[in-house]
Amino acid sequence: MKTAIIGGGGLVGSCAASALQFGGIVREIALVDVNLEVAEGQALDLLHGASLTSDQKIYAATSETVSDADVICITAGLRRKPDESRLDLINRNVSLFKSLLGDVKKAGYKKDAIVFVVSNPVDVLTYLAVKELDLPPQQVIGLGTVLDTTRLRSMLAQRMDVPPSQVQVTIFGEHGDSMVPIWSHAQIAGLPLEKYPGVTSALIAEVEKKTRGSGAEVIKKKGGAGFAVGVSIADVIHSIALNQHRILPVSSLQNGAYGLRDVSISVPTVVGRGGALSHIEIELWPKEQTALQRSGQVLRETIDKVLS
Ligand code: 2OP
Repeated sequence: MKTAIIGGGGLVGSCAASALQFGGIVREIALVDVNLEVAEGQALDLLHGASLTSDQKIYAATSETVSDADVICITAGLRRKPDESRLDLINRNVSLFKSLLGDVKKAGYKKDAIVFVVSNPVDVLTYLAVKELDLPPQQVIGLGTVLDTTRLRSMLAQRMDVPPSQVQVTIFGEHGDSMVPIWSHAQIAGLPLEKYPGVTSALIAEVEKKTRGSGAEVIKKKGGAGFAVGVSIADVIHSIALNQHRILPVSSLQNGAYGLRDVSISVPTVVGRGGALSHIEIELWPKEQTALQRSGQVLRETIDKVLS
């Protein structure tokens, strides 16, 4: 399976490529970037490690390469400033994103291609991609709260001193300030979080606050996320490549789950080679359901504001 990463010369795109290389599942990784020489440098650096990682084709290319890609991952975009919300970023990114979609349309794409948006604000740009590309909506998805969920699990594990792989908690909603951690179904090693030794509401609030601020904190300290967003991207692409039908909180166009419609937002989603195959509805605490509705409303209002 071939993945083309638009923005492959940048931090997010190159970390995604590195995660895909360590994963060894996709067969081909094409790095596309407005700065072709940097993309060539990233590809070369990855290639140098190939004998110790995996047998793949890794190269830099111009946007025409997306025409035969199975997954077109769009990571290019202007980065948030530390004090800037993701939605504030949108006005600077919408015109850039529209020109990227223009390049994809000009190059052409396979009728079964999956377009996977990472650029921020990811939910609004995923919605824009659904509207602009003549692909079935389920084939246009966004990273959504997959990164937030990854962060929350990792931070809770660190705070509780338990293995991160045994922490199960998911975040629904916007990849942004209105995200909704679903504590009602959180578990550690299959045990209900609220009954786990040492867990208090203060600890939960502390970890949630740290997770919400993670993006801005990483931007402040090192300029932007790379490693965690890279492995989060690869996790979604691997579920597509292997048609795993894993349930991931990717952003996709909603058609009724949790009362959400005509907005791209994260809910538990079955992800396979066909993209967002279905949405999983579960009972939430009333306050979680309210917060999720609010998150959908925030995104809907932004879409009306910037995409009209
Ligand atoms: C973040 O939260 C890149 O939006 C991403 O760091």
